[in-house]
Amino acid sequence: MFRRKVTDSAEAATPSPEAQQGPRHVAVIMDGNGRWAQARGRPRLFGHHAGAKRVREIVNACPDLRVKYLTVFAFSTENWKRTQTEVAGLMSLFRRYISKETRALRDEGVRVRFIGDRMRLDAKLICLMDELETITEGNDRVHLTIALNYGSRDEVSRAIKHLAEDVAAGRLDPADVDEETLTKYLDTKVLPDPDLVIRTSGEARISNFLLWQSAYAEYEFVDTLWPDFTKDIFAGIVSGYGGRDRRFGGAKP
Ligand code: FPP
Repeated sequence: MFRRKVTDSAEAATPSPEAQQGPRHVAVIMDGNGRWAQARGRPRLFGHHAGAKRVREIVNACPDLRVKYLTVFAFSTENWKRTQTEVAGLMSLFRRYISKETRALRDEGVRVRFIGDRMRLDAKLICLMDELETITEGNDRVHLTIALNYGSRDEVSRAIKHLAEDVAAGRLDPADVDEETLTKYLDTKVLPDPDLVIRTSGEARISNFLLWQSAYAEYEFVDTLWPDFTKDIFAGIVSGYGGRDRRFGGAKP
């Protein structure tokens, strides 16, 4: 069994109509690159390079699985704590990946967006990110969002700061602030909430990823390390989601 379920109850439940339609938005915490490399006696960056190749395979699988939105966690606000070598190697990988993949992503109908705080990223990388977003902005086949220097707490803090600035400037009445208002200040404002969040590598935690947006997401924690995560495993998880009973806090009569 390649999947580890949090509970077996999902299997026993009657699927809800929302689940039967399949997940429109899948978010993935791509974990396990370092362990994958270390198991092969190679440096951690070797695993990140292998992981980057998997991203394309999973993006390409989305249209057939009717997954319209895919969001991947590439670098967190906490990942700066890693060694300088690993951080620099990852930044270099992101630059190379974007340069190399831009044309193919455009031609394959993928619309790419980035979420996270760009302020700490280097100018060259920011420029490549802007360019990729612009070049693909007319695409609608799959919406790929790459979370880069992203952390949910950081995102919500930045959102509240902007919201407070609008209140102070008289552009927003505090009485009008509700969930919908805050959502409009988040990096993800144009995206639907994730229906399904997948984490690879056997760890069962959320790591500051899309905390607000995933309030009612379904979760799947799989033992597979990200570089081994194939489109077939992905398809199996998407198919399993169809059997879940999503109640959004409600109850069946
Ligand atoms: C977590 O595994 C992975 C990362 C921090 C980096 C994710 C990056 C990629 C998959 C490659 C690039 C992606 C794009 C979109 C170009 P880990 O290193 O924490 O693994 P470990 O838990 O085994 O150490």
